[in-house]
Amino acid sequence: MIVNLFDLEKKFTKKLPKGIEGYYSSGARDEVTLKRNRSIYNEYELLPRLLRDVSEVDIRTSILGLDIDMPILIAPVAMQQMAHKDGETATANAAKTLNTIMSHSTISNKSINEIGPIHNKTFFQLYFSKDRNFTSEMLKNCKSLGYKGIVFTVDAPRLGTRERDERNSFKMPSDLKLGNFVGTKFEHFDKIEEYDGSSMRVHSDHLFDPSLTFDIIPWIKEQSSLPVLVKGILRPDDATQALSYGADGIIISNHGGRQLDTVVPTLKQIEPIRNTIGYEPLIIVDGGIRRGTDILKCLALGADAVQIGRPILWGLQHEGQKGVELVLNMLKSELIETMILSGCKNLDEVTRDLVTKVY
Ligand SMILES: Cc1cc2nc3c(=O)[nH]c(=O)nc-3n(C[C@H](O)[C@H](O)[C@H](O)COP(=O)(O)O)c2cc1C
Repeated sequence: MIVNLFDLEKKFTKKLPKGIEGYYSSGARDEVTLKRNRSIYNEYELLPRLLRDVSEVDIRTSILGLDIDMPILIAPVAMQQMAHKDGETATANAAKTLNTIMSHSTISNKSINEIGPIHNKTFFQLYFSKDRNFTSEMLKNCKSLGYKGIVFTVDAPRLGTRERDERNSFKMPSDLKLGNFVGTKFEHFDKIEEYDGSSMRVHSDHLFDPSLTFDIIPWIKEQSSLPVLVKGILRPDDATQALSYGADGIIISNHGGRQLDTVVPTLKQIEPIRNTIGYEPLIIVDGGIRRGTDILKCLALGADAVQIGRPILWGLQHEGQKGVELVLNMLKSELIETMILSGCKNLDEVTRDLVTKVY
């Protein structure tokens, strides 16, 4: 019986081939941050308000002018056809049904031409290629394809080493392609070079541009004519910098513990970043969010919304679009339950005093 996200995770771990499961589930090196992203939620406790008439609870919100039904978004996750044949198409359709926002990864199986038109609340996640013309072309196409924002991922000047992928010699199956790279050497992993370990790492070493600095943000805005969210921020001073270069919001993320191991868990950074950048700027957070209570804690500490990564894959593998809908619905009803039991009628009532830190 599936009661919560972890029931889906168990099924996922058993079902998929070792190489693919390893790629999806693993974190960098010792996976310390991967585990801390979750364990930190037990270091914050709730202080619910009582007798507040919670007969009706409203969790609708608005992100960059897009009205959505809940503050739970879908994070960019690469290569979703390894989990289900419908891949990113299923995820986009689920986002549409649940009226929330999906971010579509640069290194997806389905191209921007296929995903952009599905749902009018989709962001394109940018991995900035060494080939600047290629990046420019993609960005210029996003708006007319229906994308509403660019999620610029900045925590990956190179890929963090996931040792499970090295041991498993992870490769994307050869019958799949990277949709945005058709006709280039990046379409299939094996076109680049033979390597014993993770082909994903070789692939990104060739692709990702490590020379970027904050002043690339205005260029991305200009090329795309879309708002830009900077993803991967962990420090208050980096948040301030990103905003001063024109970012329209930030995403506090450590890439689900997949980049630099032992970095801080994301929950811990919400409050210091909010206190530094002030009340107005948009903050989204991801990393280890699996429960309605996790979401309430993020919002109380200063986030406007959260997003989830791996659980989307668990849902996809389980039942394609319906499985992703199940994941979103489970989290949505957990959040509503948490709001009712905490005395919150709407998201404005989710305030800092609802959470206390365990010392
Ligand atoms: C298998 C996998 C692939 C990912 N691919 C991308 C990607 O292409 N671009 C990106 O910005 N982040 C990517 N991420 C990171 C997610 O966007 C997100 O930050 C992270 O998964 C959130 O943590 P969670 O999985 O614990 O919910 C990926 C994460 C996973 C697990």
